[in-house]
Amino acid sequence: MTDIVLLGPPGAGKGTQAKRLVETRGMVQLSTGDMLREARSSGTEMGRIVAAVMDRGDLVTDEIVIGLIEERLRHGAAGGFIFDGFPRTLAQADALEALLSRMGRGIAAAIEIRVDDAALIQRITGRFTCGACGAVYHDVTRPTARPGVCDVCGSTDLRRRADDTEEALRQRLLEYYKKTAPLIGYYHALGRLRVVDGLAEIDRVAEAIDAVLDAALPAPA
Ligand code: AP5
Repeated sequence: MTDIVLLGPPGAGKGTQAKRLVETRGMVQLSTGDMLREARSSGTEMGRIVAAVMDRGDLVTDEIVIGLIEERLRHGAAGGFIFDGFPRTLAQADALEALLSRMGRGIAAAIEIRVDDAALIQRITGRFTCGACGAVYHDVTRPTARPGVCDVCGSTDLRRRADDTEEALRQRLLEYYKKTAPLIGYYHALGRLRVVDGLAEIDRVAEAIDAVLDAALPAPA
């Protein structure tokens, strides 16, 4: 089994760690948040529907996100998939199990990046991302080397998300505890849950995740 799930509340660091694993391990990141943001900027009917839901901090329907994931799975990933922000409900988790098993794949580990709520407001309100390559920054903990310029690709298209407000974050957290936190028990019951301390510095969290993956994933050929 070569695929992993990153679990954790908004701002836990799922996207930050997923992008690093893409670079260091050649894995493929599947972020439903990124897919939905692409859909909303495409101007389609589906994009208009999801934009309002996301800005409120609510979850988009299972049907839409499972459809998005199913489509991306078709492209395959020899180095393994990283599911970032998916699954977020028990129905999504069951659907993912079924989809992967049909492809002869499976989740090797579901890694909970554990943080407490107090850290999240500061993380979310200070976040900005590169509109060109998706690199994730923070005003205080991870600024760009040159103000206004992406370290990775040199783009000056640095953006803040419409749902990165204190009000939307409160709703996103409520949704997380009501609908997504039960997945911690789900993966525990399957014997695949691993927990890392998400309050540590970014590089320390990365080391903890590497240790989990070294134990859970087959060695690269
Ligand atoms: P999504 O885009 O998935 O957002 P999220 O889960 O709320 O998670 P975030 O992207 O906010 O946080 P993250 O954990 O990736 O943290 P990051 O690495 O950026 O979803 C957005 C919306 O889309 C949802 O609300 C919903 O409406 C919809 N949606 C998406 N998927 C769905 C699904 N499956 N079903 C239904 N609806 C769905 O880090 C945050 C900041 O902290 C950054 O600035 C970073 O630099 C900094 N940081 C990271 N790690 C550390 C650290 N260790 N120390 C200090 N700072 C750190």
